[in-house]
Amino acid sequence: MNDFCYRDLMLHCEEMPVLELARKVKTPFYLYSHNTLLNHYRAFDGAFSGIPHLVCYALKANSNQALLKLFINCGAGLDIVSGGELYRGLAAGVDPGKVVYSGVGKRTDEIEYALRAGILMFNVESSQELEVINDCAGRLGKRAGIALRVNPDVNAETHPYITTGLKEHKFGLDIEEALKEYRRIRELSFLEALGVSCHIGSQITKISPFVDALERLGNLVARLREEGSDIRYLDLGGGLGITYNEETPPHPREYAQALLTVARDIGCTLILEPGRVIVGNGGILVTEVLYTKTKENKNFVIVDAGMNDLIRPSLYGAYQRIQPVVEMDREEIVADIVGPVCESGDFFARGRRIPRLERGELAAIMGAGAYGFAMASTYNSRPRIPEVLVKGGEYFIIGKREEYADLIRNESIPEFLRT
Ligand code: LLP
Repeated sequence: MNDFCYRDLMLHCEEMPVLELARKVKTPFYLYSHNTLLNHYRAFDGAFSGIPHLVCYALKANSNQALLKLFINCGAGLDIVSGGELYRGLAAGVDPGKVVYSGVGKRTDEIEYALRAGILMFNVESSQELEVINDCAGRLGKRAGIALRVNPDVNAETHPYITTGLKEHKFGLDIEEALKEYRRIRELSFLEALGVSCHIGSQITKISPFVDALERLGNLVARLREEGSDIRYLDLGGGLGITYNEETPPHPREYAQALLTVARDIGCTLILEPGRVIVGNGGILVTEVLYTKTKENKNFVIVDAGMNDLIRPSLYGAYQRIQPVVEMDREEIVADIVGPVCESGDFFARGRRIPRLERGELAAIMGAGAYGFAMASTYNSRPRIPEVLVKGGEYFIIGKREEYADLIRNESIPEFLRT
């Protein structure tokens, strides 16, 4: 079942025609389906119901308050990577006891904020970080829950920028190194080793790298228990891929099935940190064609969204499906679909075969729910665009369009320049 589909030639989000919404909201805007988001969360969480588990949604994928609240209402915890993400999570009402804090560069003030909030555990990535957390916890009179993020050295075979589980990457500690660090944790009085963690990469479309990583972490848990550590959580990170184009990722049910058999024997609460698989196909970016032109036999379709709104194609050469909002018999052309930003890298597709779109028509960039708005900037002084949630036939503005005044809100001109 798809909540973004054509009815009477019109693209709908659930019961809402996208064209009608665009007239009210004005383009460009992000559009999310409540039903898809809910179903994706439930399908993922439900797939692990056979064992003790905790889904910590990785809010870096999409951190809108309304989406967070939706998942929190379903019992979600959060995977955070900054003080700002913790703030967003707490504002949306997350139970701090369900928050894990990942990331290779946590600042002292961020660590203290997380300790005060009472998060479940820190996924720690270096020996120095352990010391710093121990010091902070001592100062605050708290005990910090710790999992070391290990690098299981499995190849996730995804885009080089988003694979993270190999030895040469900046992330995590090697397993042997981790063993030594776990021994140190026992000597640091304000730390408690609660778990082991890893995250091997993103947009992974095979099951085997996850199973390999789980087995390696399982062995580590066994060794740690022999040494007397009471390891209760195994955090396998996120990374399950989705279909943008022709990928055939496993369904969360298959992914869970493959993991459950191994996880059961390990006897830990399994933590998962999905981001993309929950929100990626729950959102689209709606944009209007401003101009079309042909140059050197090349067709350009210039739209009103830019790389500042959705950077994935520019940054990773990522494929995002593009379709007309009104379907009709159209000639097909090969074109570059580009934005208004003053960079050649500002494109959504290059040399793409698409139905011919004319000035004033609308296009939908599909699969834009994850790492879309979350990575948006105001480059070229383009205010950030609205986010709209549709539920059935109703719509809700869950992120307001920024105004020009927002662009300079935090800026000031020093006195000496005011003549
Ligand atoms: N946990 C950790 C520690 C992570 O670093 C990430 C993503 C996740 C969980 C969630 O991964 P997911 O389930 O969404 O794959 N901007 C890139 C993706 C970067 C992913 C970074 N880490 C993109 O647009 O493809």
